[in-house]
Amino acid sequence: MIADSGEFVINFMPAENADLVAKVAGCSGSDVDKFDAFEIQTTPASTVEAPVLSAPYAFYECKTIDRQSYGDHDLFAGRVTAVQWEESAFFKDGTIDLEHASPALYIGEDQYTRASQTFHHPRN
Ligand SMILES: Cc1cc2nc3c(=O)[nH]c(=O)nc-3n(C[C@H](O)[C@H](O)[C@H](O)COP(=O)(O)O)c2cc1C
Repeated sequence: MIADSGEFVINFMPAENADLVAKVAGCSGSDVDKFDAFEIQTTPASTVEAPVLSAPYAFYECKTIDRQSYGDHDLFAGRVTAVQWEESAFFKDGTIDLEHASPALYIGEDQYTRASQTFHHPRN
């Protein structure tokens, strides 16, 4: 789908939607129409035809600029053409406010977790 259209949307999903993340991870779009099979609700993006899922706390709209194949996976690089985010989910400095957003964090196998603590480590 990405290869054909030359565009995609990266959806940052909350832990509440981890079940959907797991479902779409468990099959390929070449075998099944995931939007149809999992009754995925979408909203239109502003700069690409690819839809936005319901409901990310942030998303990037992207146009493909490169594609590399590695074995049975393809790696796509995209130029970000639009970004939207839920205001309440972020602090002014761009970091996530974990009181208001809870990213779905995949930790392997069929396990997901939520971030519960933040640490500050200066880069220099
Ligand atoms: C949470 C999550 C975990 C995944 N883990 C793996 C993995 O361990 N190994 C792998 O090859 N692909 C992994 N994938 C990728 C998907 O299983 C798979 O590549 C994708 O569903 C293929 O869909 P497509 O053919 O429609 O692009 C993961 C995806 C998600 C969202």
